[in-house]
Amino acid sequence: MQDKTIAGFSKLSKSDKLKWVAQQFAAGTEAAETDFRNFWHPDESLQRVFDGFSENTISNYMLPYGVAPNFLINGKLYTVPMVIEESSVVAAASSAAKYWLDRGGFHTTIISTQKVGQLHFSWAGDHELLSGLTGELREYLLNDVAFLTANMEKRGGGVTGITLLDYTHLEPDYYQLRVTFETCDSMGANFINSVLEEFGNSLERFIAEHPALEGAPRDVDIIMAILSNYTPQCLVRAWVECPVEALAEGQFEKETPLFAEKFAKAVRIAQIDPYRAVTHNKGIFNGIDAVVLATANDFRAIEACGHAYAARDGQYRSLSYCTIENGIFRFWLDIPLAVGTVGGLTRLHPLASRSLELLGNPSAPELMAVIAATGLAQNFAAVRSLVTTGIQQGHMKMHLTNILNHLGAVEAEMEAAFQYFCDKVITFTAVRDFIEALRKTPAAAK
Ligand code: MEV
Repeated sequence: MQDKTIAGFSKLSKSDKLKWVAQQFAAGTEAAETDFRNFWHPDESLQRVFDGFSENTISNYMLPYGVAPNFLINGKLYTVPMVIEESSVVAAASSAAKYWLDRGGFHTTIISTQKVGQLHFSWAGDHELLSGLTGELREYLLNDVAFLTANMEKRGGGVTGITLLDYTHLEPDYYQLRVTFETCDSMGANFINSVLEEFGNSLERFIAEHPALEGAPRDVDIIMAILSNYTPQCLVRAWVECPVEALAEGQFEKETPLFAEKFAKAVRIAQIDPYRAVTHNKGIFNGIDAVVLATANDFRAIEACGHAYAARDGQYRSLSYCTIENGIFRFWLDIPLAVGTVGGLTRLHPLASRSLELLGNPSAPELMAVIAATGLAQNFAAVRSLVTTGIQQGHMKMHLTNILNHLGAVEAEMEAAFQYFCDKVITFTAVRDFIEALRKTPAAAK
């Protein structure tokens, strides 16, 4: 086995990087190299765009791109793009979209669109002294970043607030400037970070030069300047509602009130119990992440923020709520979603650009609405299955294809398996046994 350490890897050409990586596969360099190369895009200029997204790229990693049609959101129909590998997520979103299409669709309201940034610094001076100057400091800082904020201000955004926070009781000399931003249709990370870094330079000058700080320490140590991915004030609410009897559908017609009660109880359980809440919210993020990915937004930021928000009162809880009052079933979700429809990779990634086009080139708030509605749809579909048929029926039906592909099943074998397992419990072993038996009697699989 070759030495696994290497100096200057990033300086190698893409082919040489791939060759070096391929040598690490015991089973054969050539096969590994071929597998990685097989996913290179045949259009070289397009591949160059992808290679530019990240460092040390040796291949592309494919995920399924699906769509969930029939999403009625605030009276407008959407076909929602979803990038996700998990069986049955897109099917579940589509089924919930269709279900609510006949019941008034999804409704949303944007509660706020504020982003947050932080300048963390150490200063050995007296808090009272500095806090007495915050009005002046604010103006000083804003004036210094005018060259960075002018364009954003033209679009209706910019810095919306600066607050000095004193944390010296928790950490010696630690202060923070918490800054709020409106970043319009961009997620705003680069804008926010640039402004914050410039604030750092300005703050150093302000403290070094302000006459009122005569005798106080003139040195400030900027610890770090970075946006916060916790954006509880960039919040959207999505909901569905209808009379309980209107929930009736097919086989559950007679059991509708019971279904509604059971559904609401399941949501309350996710409010009470963190073990259930995490799984419940994971179901919501099945929908949310899929749209966030399809539009080239930052799913790590969205996840981190959503989970922090779910724990905002000190306990991790469901992000969704359900009530039945005066015969009306109401199911809703409040979720912070700091997304953008301009900037980042949103237009550079050809399929992300197509996703936005498919959604009618929405503004960032409109995209927040679509994402929240998809999360709610996903949550509705999951909880509906859980309190009725159980999740495995739909899930394993979709997973059957994966198992069959894993076993290298040909089309005739697949068809036979779909037929056989339509009313049976699907497990890997059961499917393998079925295919093996079928292969022993080849006539059956023709
Ligand atoms: C599976 O990916 C998601 C679910 O577990 C969500 C839930 O339990 O609510 C089905």
